[in-house]
Amino acid sequence: MPELKKSPAWQALNAHYERIYPVHMRDLFDQDPHRFEKFSLQINDILFDFSKNRITEESLTLLTNLADHSGLKDQIEAMFRGDPINTTENRPALHTALRGSRQNTPIYVNNQDINPEINRVLSRIEQFCDQIRSGKWRGYSGKKITHIVNIGIGGSDLGPKTVLTALQPYADENIKVHFVSNVDQASIIETISTLSPETTLFIIASKTFTTQETMTNAHSARQWLMNSAKNTHAISKHFVAISTNQTAVIDFGIASDNIFEFWDWVGGRYSLWSAIGLSIAISIGFKNFTQLLQGANDVDNHFKNAPFESNIPVVMALLGIWYNNFFNAASHAILPYAHSLRYFSDYLQQCDMESNGKSIDRNGLHVNYETGPIIWGQSGPNGQHAFFQLIHQGTKLVPCDFIAPAHNRYESPDQHAILLANFLAQPEALMQGQTIEQVKKEFAQNKHPRSFLQSKIFSGNRPSNSFLFKEVNPKTIGSLIALYEHKIFVQGCIWNINSFDQMGVELGKKLARSIVPELQNNQPISSHNCSTNGLINYYKKIRSS
Ligand code: F6P
Repeated sequence: MPELKKSPAWQALNAHYERIYPVHMRDLFDQDPHRFEKFSLQINDILFDFSKNRITEESLTLLTNLADHSGLKDQIEAMFRGDPINTTENRPALHTALRGSRQNTPIYVNNQDINPEINRVLSRIEQFCDQIRSGKWRGYSGKKITHIVNIGIGGSDLGPKTVLTALQPYADENIKVHFVSNVDQASIIETISTLSPETTLFIIASKTFTTQETMTNAHSARQWLMNSAKNTHAISKHFVAISTNQTAVIDFGIASDNIFEFWDWVGGRYSLWSAIGLSIAISIGFKNFTQLLQGANDVDNHFKNAPFESNIPVVMALLGIWYNNFFNAASHAILPYAHSLRYFSDYLQQCDMESNGKSIDRNGLHVNYETGPIIWGQSGPNGQHAFFQLIHQGTKLVPCDFIAPAHNRYESPDQHAILLANFLAQPEALMQGQTIEQVKKEFAQNKHPRSFLQSKIFSGNRPSNSFLFKEVNPKTIGSLIALYEHKIFVQGCIWNINSFDQMGVELGKKLARSIVPELQNNQPISSHNCSTNGLINYYKKIRSS
């Protein structure tokens, strides 16, 4: 592939940017009453409106040319086929296989079709769900399991937590699921202090089974169980593990019958579709879990087959590149208008930033263009009273995704209309803005200083996407997450980076391991730079005083 910035596709976008930059979206809407129809797409009941972007039809053509230039079609096929696209770790990235396995279209890894293995683990998940939900599975003293604690971090926490929070209306009320991720003891202590060891099941979710935070919390949980059960036999009734590292799980003391396997070709942040989703399946039931997989599988098929200009993840990715690489927008905000989707931006933050926060390309060279944006956000209504000021009037361009269901769990039409009115108003305000003429008209009655009038101006022309769908259900949430996963993949392809490793998290982990023993005595240390030494020595001083 020729150097990205020198490619004709990139150069054409550069020239196009110069023409588009001064154009206001207000005028684009005035000129074309069909802009919404032209720039909106649908998959199942999810409507994706991208008309409030700084684009014309020509922009879309030029952006899809960039995708063609990157060989995107071949790269999509390579991912679905199971080629080792995670080149640094020499592995495929086959989260898509996890949600398509029941169709049994063969996918080979090391010359073996992986569908039978995926389906075998799915059957085990189904059986286990039934045992827990029906109460057949009993704790060490013969009581039913009423609480589940998922101990994991990163993808092994955020995936199940985000999905289960979204799907609370589907949750079994007799089994409460808790999530512990932080190695701060407060997290595990505050969780288990309200629970009984006799009725609690711990799911230790860790791909590697070596993650310091997870293993530390898992040991605390085991100790808590032992304090009460006084017999290691109780572990088999109260601990299950989800991991690719069976040896480490068995060393920890969890029996092989209690291990739910997954595979190194599933990235941690793409793993909720694997056994990592066990807590989801137990809580919402296996049938609903398969709907979650189905929703994602529908998007996989759309992503594989739709032409780029009507392919939702491709369009999402290209718009992101348009702002990231041509408008120099450093970040992208995710703004759900549903309380149940409150962890969605946290989830996408890991998925996107751990995937595309890279500066070395797939040839080992430094990139000379921007890669992954900063992904941030929170529930839209709360964000409106926190950071929307900056999005509307600040000096930074922040493209936004607005996400809302037409129905919600507690349907009071008046209250939901208020929520939805805000979901609709914010993108319109961002797009339209407010001119000085409008301000003068509104405040014509009273005399106001110039600074007051100027501060009431909204430049507008600030881009956003809107996602609107019927309700948050398993299928829709599966589809939504898969749309973002593929958006991330497409961007990685165009930037020519490996979206499936995460080497950048290793150095800090390694250093932390070496610092732990240094904190376990009162001796001043001098083994680091003077800043770290100073902090460690001050820590020791205030701990001992
Ligand atoms: O942050 C690094 C990371 O490896 C993530 O990719 C992963 O989701 C998380 O740590 C947890 O890893 P594991 O599931 O192996 O405990």
